[in-house]
Amino acid sequence: MFAQLYIIYIFFLVSAVVGIPVVNLQNQTFNTDGFVSARPKCTDPKNAKYKSSVCATRKSVRVSCESYNNPGTAVDTNFSCGDGESCVDIDSNDAFCVDDNSAQEWENNQSFERVCSASVLLTPPQETFQLVAGMTTYSTTGDPIQVVELEVRYDDNDSDDFVLQENNYSLTIKQENFSRKISFCFFAGTQEKVQAVASLAYVLM
Ligand SMILES: *[C@@H]1O[C@H](CO)[C@@H](O)[C@H](O)[C@H]1NC(C)=O
Ligand SMILES: *[C@@H]1O[C@H](CO)[C@@H](O)[C@H](O)[C@H]1NC(C)=O
Ligand SMILES: *[C@@H]1O[C@H](CO)[C@@H](O)[C@H](O)[C@H]1NC(C)=O
Ligand SMILES: *[C@@H]1O[C@H](CO)[C@@H](O)[C@H](O)[C@H]1NC(C)=O
Ligand SMILES: *[C@@H]1O[C@H](CO)[C@@H](O)[C@H](O)[C@H]1NC(C)=O
Repeated sequence: MFAQLYIIYIFFLVSAVVGIPVVNLQNQTFNTDGFVSARPKCTDPKNAKYKSSVCATRKSVRVSCESYNNPGTAVDTNFSCGDGESCVDIDSNDAFCVDDNSAQEWENNQSFERVCSASVLLTPPQETFQLVAGMTTYSTTGDPIQVVELEVRYDDNDSDDFVLQENNYSLTIKQENFSRKISFCFFAGTQEKVQAVASLAYVLM
């Protein structure tokens, strides 16, 4: 799954979708005008095979790795995001360090209400890709924080794409919603300050 993931840079380029060059399963490199989002790696040479990852903090990824020779025993390692990057849980199995310029970031400023990111126009993916989105909520200390609701809105309307009592939410964008404006929202349910980061990505099918 992970090797098939392509972070796209959509938020500040609205209609110009740019893929991040990542090696896919066939070992072809998709060469686009790239913005390289840091894909977490297994840094221990003895356990170099990537299995999955989740955001440990806003700036670090907990990566589950195993040995190529002796697979089956997962070993967790930490991977640090670079300066100007934030971790986003982009699907149920993978997290990414996304450049802050290609992520959507917003916060509740301690107000007790639902807050949403700016909205951006979705650009339908090519047929061989799925368009996915992920968002993760953090406390001011950078730890994932559970909120009452995480929701995706299309054309500023409520949708069935939401989850309750989680600190992250990832989904596949349905075809019926392609070409609509998407925004990401959360309702913290407390007056604690909560910050959120969201990103879109392509998944090669
Ligand atoms: C990895 O990071 C977590 C905090 O996210 C920390 O508790 C843990 O000690 C770190 N592990 C290593 C091996 O650095
Ligand atoms: C929170 O504060 C930031 C910075 O002052 C501002 O840009 C943003 O619009 C505020 N968000 C809300 C929901 O009030
Ligand atoms: C979305 O909301 C607008 C008004 O805010 C409304 O005109 C439109 O019908 C809604 N679309 C859907 C699909 O609910
Ligand atoms: C987009 O998809 C969501 C979730 O399936 C659905 O609830 C919503 O009505 C759709 N919105 C539009 C505008 O098509
Ligand atoms: C992200 O949300 C899923 C549920 O969708 C949950 O199982 C997982 O623990 C969350 N990730 C973290 C790092 O807490």
